Amino acid sequence: MKQLRIHMASFHLHPILVFHYFIVLPCLATVPFKFRSSTHSALSQEATRTTRSNILKYQELPDFPNGTYLDRSSFPSDFKFGTLTLAVKHEGNSSHKVESIWDTYALVDGVVLDGTTPAQGGDQYNRYPEDIEYMVAMGVDAFRFSLAWTRIFPDRSGEPNAEAIAHYNDMIDKLVAEGIEPHVTLWSEDHPQALEDAYDGLLSPLFIDDFATYANVCFAEFGDRVKYWITFDEPNDYVGLAYASNQSPPGRCSSCDAKLGNCTKGNSSTEPYIVAHHILLAHAAAAKLYKDQYQDSQEGYIGISLWFKWYEPLNSTDEVDLASAKQAQNFYFGWFMDPLAFGDYPENMRTLVGARLPTFTEQEAIYLRESFDFVGINVVTASYVTSGTDEESCPTYFNDMNISITAYRDGEAIGEGENEYSVPWCIEKIVNYMRDVYGNPLVYITEIGWGISFTSDIQENLNDTERIQFYYSYLSTLSEAIRSSLSPNTPAPLLSGNLELNG
Ligand SMILES: *[C@@H]1O[C@H](CO)[C@@H](O)[C@H](O)[C@H]1NC(C)=O
Ligand SMILES: *[C@@H]1O[C@H](CO)[C@@H](O)[C@H](O)[C@H]1NC(C)=O
Ligand SMILES: *[C@@H]1O[C@H](CO)[C@@H](O)[C@H](O)[C@H]1NC(C)=O
Ligand SMILES: *[C@@H]1O[C@H](CO)[C@@H](O)[C@H](O)[C@H]1NC(C)=O
Ligand SMILES: *[C@@H]1O[C@H](CO)[C@@H](O)[C@H](O)[C@H]1NC(C)=O
Ligand SMILES: *[C@@H]1O[C@H](CO)[C@@H](O)[C@H](O)[C@H]1NC(C)=O
Ligand SMILES: *[C@@H]1O[C@H](CO)[C@@H](O)[C@H](O)[C@H]1NC(C)=O
Repeated sequence: MKQLRIHMASFHLHPILVFHYFIVLPCLATVPFKFRSSTHSALSQEATRTTRSNILKYQELPDFPNGTYLDRSSFPSDFKFGTLTLAVKHEGNSSHKVESIWDTYALVDGVVLDGTTPAQGGDQYNRYPEDIEYMVAMGVDAFRFSLAWTRIFPDRSGEPNAEAIAHYNDMIDKLVAEGIEPHVTLWSEDHPQALEDAYDGLLSPLFIDDFATYANVCFAEFGDRVKYWITFDEPNDYVGLAYASNQSPPGRCSSCDAKLGNCTKGNSSTEPYIVAHHILLAHAAAAKLYKDQYQDSQEGYIGISLWFKWYEPLNSTDEVDLASAKQAQNFYFGWFMDPLAFGDYPENMRTLVGARLPTFTEQEAIYLRESFDFVGINVVTASYVTSGTDEESCPTYFNDMNISITAYRDGEAIGEGENEYSVPWCIEKIVNYMRDVYGNPLVYITEIGWGISFTSDIQENLNDTERIQFYYSYLSTLSEAIRSSLSPNTPAPLLSGNLELNG
């Protein structure tokens, strides 16, 4: 790609350093509580603090690979760069809040490798003014963070907690004063444990009203300044991990498939579908409330963020592999995106899951189709997909897909990495898929991240050459994709807006 020098005028401060800091920041507040695959890990508060205090001092930053360069002028001028935290991973401080489902789950033996709990997370709750200073220094346009339901609206009948509302008001005011757009997520695996105890949380339709009640408080209190709302953060990844493989709370699954998880209760053949259905309806209820009561006066936008991994047929000329890849796409992404775009689940899910897949009423289908101004995409990676086996297995969400996933083709890994691979070309595939399958809705990239391990040596983590290479390759691919979609003979640009990062 063309080598470009930093374009000073487009940054707020210290432009030369911005891009590197932009890459480093994710360590500041990001506690990767949940590593994909069955391991969990966390960065202690002490480590987070050391990282924080080093961010602005860290001068010896590695350069982009091979003399390449990428900067803000590689992107459209209205393209927004941001950074991201989630309450359950980054706020820490358990004072004046009730337990979330993660607080309970983290105490289960073996769930978090080093036993860290959300209460020991990055301490954003107390240190947000400092975090905002770093964001200003980095020159980000937007900060995507989530609110803790467990602080704002701790139980079903209680009043909203004035202290929590004052806290988020101050944080939002400080961001706005610095010219950083607050983008707010309402849920990230952290609804109150009390809802789990009262009615099994997401398994009950009662969740829908409770979520709307919580959302209503947030719109009313913060919507004068918050213009971007995300109801749920990657529920399409969460549901399988939480209700079919015991990798996220509440850790429910069937006993019939012990290789995926050992749970004391649950039903992996039915519960994932019920839970996804309720999440979609809760999203639609909150969106309807926002659109009916707030959008005109507050002039903001609402959407949902979905996890999007690209599934590539192992043999791209083989009919079965092509069908398997499509099946994977539908079970992970179409499961949520099809109801939003078309009002119903993908047809081949219906065929494979049968009566276990719930149905929407006509009215619900309409609400779903009207429920988003944008779709947030959390871009991850890609895998190869081939057909399932004929082997008899118990019906579960994961087995229903009837596919096999591999990271290798002809002995070669799909990208750099160990457990999650860096596959920059997945961005272009995802962008094209949204255009071709879903009719080009407005898409924001709400996360780009790579699950690589931290070491216990903070200095070593700060010398983050692999991650810099990762971001370079993803962002340059994205930049190319935007550029090529702007050429006169191709459809209108699909991507606009917002790029947000998570470590
Ligand atoms: C940098 O060069 C190495 C060696 O030629 C190559 O393997 C790598 O892909 C290059 N990286 C980029 C981003 O071009
Ligand atoms: C949480 O934050 C509050 C307000 O800053 C502080 O008074 C309290 O001591 C903190 N609690 C913990 C457990 O850190
Ligand atoms: C899951 O629920 C279905 C429908 O109620 C039932 O037929 C099946 O036996 C249950 N499976 C397990 C493993 O409990
Ligand atoms: C579940 O328990 C069985 C028997 O102890 C064990 O073989 C299996 O590895 C466990 N599964 C997981 C995912 O931990
Ligand atoms: C890919 O699939 C095609 C069509 O089934 C087949 O002819 C070809 O041999 C396969 N390629 C490999 C490498 O298996
Ligand atoms: C799963 O895929 C295999 C291989 O394509 C096929 O033989 C089998 O019939 C499929 N099972 C179901 C339930 O569709
Ligand atoms: C940073 O890492 C690179 C590659 O892993 C290494 O060559 C370099 O010496 C390290 N720099 C510092 C300051 O540790």
